[in-house]
Amino acid sequence: MTTAIYPGSFDPITYGHTSIIKGGLVAFDEIVVAILTNAKKTPLFSLDERVEMIRESIVEEGADPSRVSIDTFDGLLVDYCAKKNARVILRGLRAVSDFEYELQMANMNRHLNHDVETVFIMAENEYFYVASRLVKEVSRLGGDVTGLVPRCVERRLRDKLALT
Ligand code: PNS
Repeated sequence: MTTAIYPGSFDPITYGHTSIIKGGLVAFDEIVVAILTNAKKTPLFSLDERVEMIRESIVEEGADPSRVSIDTFDGLLVDYCAKKNARVILRGLRAVSDFEYELQMANMNRHLNHDVETVFIMAENEYFYVASRLVKEVSRLGGDVTGLVPRCVERRLRDKLALT
């Protein structure tokens, strides 16, 4: 039974993320979506909101919920992997621009713990340009994010931005 940890901020989850989760389920038995709690950036959505959106998106996207769990972590990712007895970190790759950052992280994590391997899945073509940061910016400026994020996320973005 191979468990992969899929870490990130997920603020909010996008179709780019769900496509990586679905791809990950082809390769691994179980995926733990692990939300970093102490991110340097101030998130738009609370941890609880992000957990709920991920849960709803998994169902919406038809991924097998019995093989995907959602958790939060703080501190070093490799320590969290050890705590979960997981030896695989799952990350998505979009354009070349992701590569340098991801290479640095993967090598740093390998330096910290040689037992943990990072595995990359290419994002689907249509989501190559989708990033949580851009989705938030477009929403905030009144643009349409239909088709970029799950419907439950669209709704929450609308609600959240109506309040700010
Ligand atoms: O998708 P994101 O939001 O860029 O995710 C970044 C994340 C959470 C994977 C990364 O910041 C992380 O692993 N943070 C935990 C701290 C850590 O382990 N740092 C050392 C390895 S680079």
